[in-house]
Amino acid sequence: MAMHEITIHVNGEERAAEVESRLLLVHFLREVAGLTGTHIGCDTTHCGACTVLLDGKPVKSCTVLAVQADGHEITTVEGLEKDGELHPIQEGFHQEHGLQCGYCTPGMMLTSAALLAENPDPSEAEIRHAISGNLCRCTGYVNIVKSVQHAAAKLREAS
Ligand code: FES
Ligand code: FES
Repeated sequence: MAMHEITIHVNGEERAAEVESRLLLVHFLREVAGLTGTHIGCDTTHCGACTVLLDGKPVKSCTVLAVQADGHEITTVEGLEKDGELHPIQEGFHQEHGLQCGYCTPGMMLTSAALLAENPDPSEAEIRHAISGNLCRCTGYVNIVKSVQHAAAKLREAS
């Protein structure tokens, strides 16, 4: 098996490792970088539990090879908090009870954070469209939408 030296910038920190060609980004994050906030739900690109940001865009990290992320910026759920302050999207999920078991939540929050970075005032339909690749078995999505709206309002207030 071919090995590759790669360096991925994860949450602002350089993570260098020698990895096999077949190593998936999700396994790099969880097993090499020790960032277990990125979950694995299906391994087949359906559930979105493994979503992270690759150069600011949401990707399903079970479908990206670690070598494809070489030299790129990855944000995981651990990177949302800054200087001990929750990201508005984290605050939104907390305030509006946007989770139950929490398994989908890291992916849901990263997809939503990317939406709000592009569209600070999304309609309910736009929020539902953005999170359509992230499955939640628990909440029925109503409170997830409210959480994103809460975060959007907070971000608009701050800007
Ligand atoms: S684990 Fe990646 S989409 Fe489900
Ligand atoms: S909160 Fe349980 S899967 Fe979404």
